Amino acid sequence: MPFHQVPLLLFFIFSCLFFVTIQTRHRHSHSEHDKFHAVSHVSVPPSPSPSPSTSPAPVPEAVAGSRYSVFSVLDFGAIGDGVTDDTQAFKLAWDTACQTESAVLLVPDGYSFMLQSTVLAGPCKTAGLVFQIEGTIMPPDGPDSWPRNISKRQWLVFYRINGMLMQGGGLVDGKGEKWWNLPCKPHKGIYGTTMPGPCDSPVAIRFFMSSNLTVKGLKIKNSPQFHFSIGSLGINHSRACVSNITVSDSVIQHSDNGIRIKTWQGGSGCVSKVKFRNISMEAVRNPIIIDQYYCLTKNCSNQTSAVVINDISYVNIKGSYDVRSPPMSFACSDSTPCINLTLAQVELQPATRGRTVANPYCWNAHGTVLTQTIPPVYCLMEETNATNDNTNLCG
Ligand SMILES: *[C@@H]1O[C@H](CO)[C@@H](O)[C@H](O)[C@H]1NC(C)=O
Ligand SMILES: *[C@@H]1O[C@H](CO)[C@@H](O)[C@H](O)[C@H]1NC(C)=O
Ligand SMILES: *[C@@H]1O[C@H](CO)[C@@H](O)[C@H](O)[C@H]1NC(C)=O
Ligand SMILES: *[C@@H]1O[C@H](CO)[C@@H](O)[C@H](O)[C@H]1NC(C)=O
Ligand SMILES: *[C@@H]1O[C@H](CO)[C@@H](O)[C@H](O)[C@H]1NC(C)=O
Ligand SMILES: *[C@@H]1O[C@H](CO)[C@@H](O)[C@H](O)[C@H]1NC(C)=O
Ligand SMILES: *[C@@H]1O[C@H](CO)[C@@H](O)[C@H](O)[C@H]1NC(C)=O
Ligand SMILES: *[C@@H]1O[C@H](CO)[C@@H](O)[C@H](O)[C@H]1NC(C)=O
Ligand SMILES: *[C@@H]1O[C@H](CO)[C@@H](O)[C@H](O)[C@H]1NC(C)=O
Repeated sequence: MPFHQVPLLLFFIFSCLFFVTIQTRHRHSHSEHDKFHAVSHVSVPPSPSPSPSTSPAPVPEAVAGSRYSVFSVLDFGAIGDGVTDDTQAFKLAWDTACQTESAVLLVPDGYSFMLQSTVLAGPCKTAGLVFQIEGTIMPPDGPDSWPRNISKRQWLVFYRINGMLMQGGGLVDGKGEKWWNLPCKPHKGIYGTTMPGPCDSPVAIRFFMSSNLTVKGLKIKNSPQFHFSIGSLGINHSRACVSNITVSDSVIQHSDNGIRIKTWQGGSGCVSKVKFRNISMEAVRNPIIIDQYYCLTKNCSNQTSAVVINDISYVNIKGSYDVRSPPMSFACSDSTPCINLTLAQVELQPATRGRTVANPYCWNAHGTVLTQTIPPVYCLMEETNATNDNTNLCG
């Protein structure tokens, strides 16, 4: 690929989403890899490797007493005062944990780690990597603090990880305040309308070309963009699959997007078997959103192919939403409907009383409301036996 296209591609790849973004089985996985190296904050193997922590780290319950080796970022030189740049220490800790069978990468309680935009790359030796966040991790404070030569559209990117549990009682503080006034890109709505789109602000934590992930119990606040997000898939007709992701027991506060599945027009592949469970929202704009019309310019052409979206469940999602957007929005593509969306115990109240609120929005979305939601969702279509092209499905 000619070099001049790399920035464009990176722009496409990273101008998305906030929290969990997952993309797998890309046809051109090798060149994808190279592109990440072109960004050049990919972690590199440490030498020599510090040995597993012997300090009395608060070993996570889930792994206490097991054969896991615990690697605390403090043992790799992280300071955790909220000011010092701890990126290198995290990279070293990551590489060491990634190359160890059954490892826990520990972000200890009582510290705040400031991290620059970083790619943490796999594949790892273990399918059971645990990323245990007990302390606070945060990006640099606002656009002016970001190094000029580093993309402002991503923060932590996990790349080619198959099997990881990310959990803990810690906090991911997106430091969003200073990003919120940035101008936003337009975004194609249904049938050529233009809607406001995401701003040029970073995706907090993103999984790319990864599978079998669980994200559990994190508290995420003030992210400039969305928190949990899956996609963006289908860039440039690429095939990408994301499946078997569970995001649960988390709190999202004051953010532009809550849990989002976003795909590009014209892509192929699938997003399937994704479960969102027990997530609390506080004044989140777009708490629940599926968007298959994603496009960065006003001039998106209509595309016929689309990423298949099926078996997505939303259970016990409660809290408040910012009334400027609908609390739930399922905008599926014209050609490929979303199938088997299920909603249960979804209760979202407007954060500001007395304002006109938008109704839930659906387009070409099939699914079932298992228990009455607040606000009620009447727009889902009945389940259909019309199967999408099976070649597009992933296992
Ligand atoms: C999209 O795919 C075409 C054909 O494979 C390729 O020539 C072009 O460089 C790709 N564009 C990007 C942004 O990767
Ligand atoms: C960004 O610039 C700084 C200083 O100019 C340099 O040390 C760093 O390596 C650069 N980072 C990248 C990713 O190019
Ligand atoms: C995901 O986990 C399942 C069950 O443990 C395993 O069979 C499958 O190969 C894993 N997928 C990947 C891509 O690692
Ligand atoms: C889904 O992922 C979980 C957690 O990684 C794993 O235990 C399970 O076996 C996976 N299931 C499938 C069908 O891949
Ligand atoms: C739901 O998540 C919260 C944290 O946000 C946790 O305290 C609570 O125990 C969870 N509830 C269930 C039923 O798992
Ligand atoms: C919009 O799309 C048309 C047809 O694809 C193209 O000719 C035109 O240059 C595009 N305009 C912009 C502003 O991208
Ligand atoms: C996309 O399709 C809609 C309806 O099918 C049509 O009104 C619109 O003009 C199309 N837009 C483009 C850019 O082709
Ligand atoms: C629909 O999705 C749910 C969970 O998301 C799954 O348990 C169920 O098997 C799916 N139903 C069909 C018909 O695939
Ligand atoms: C879907 O298929 C099942 C079994 O093949 C059948 O019982 C059911 O009536 C079909 N539903 C619709 C809406 O066609």
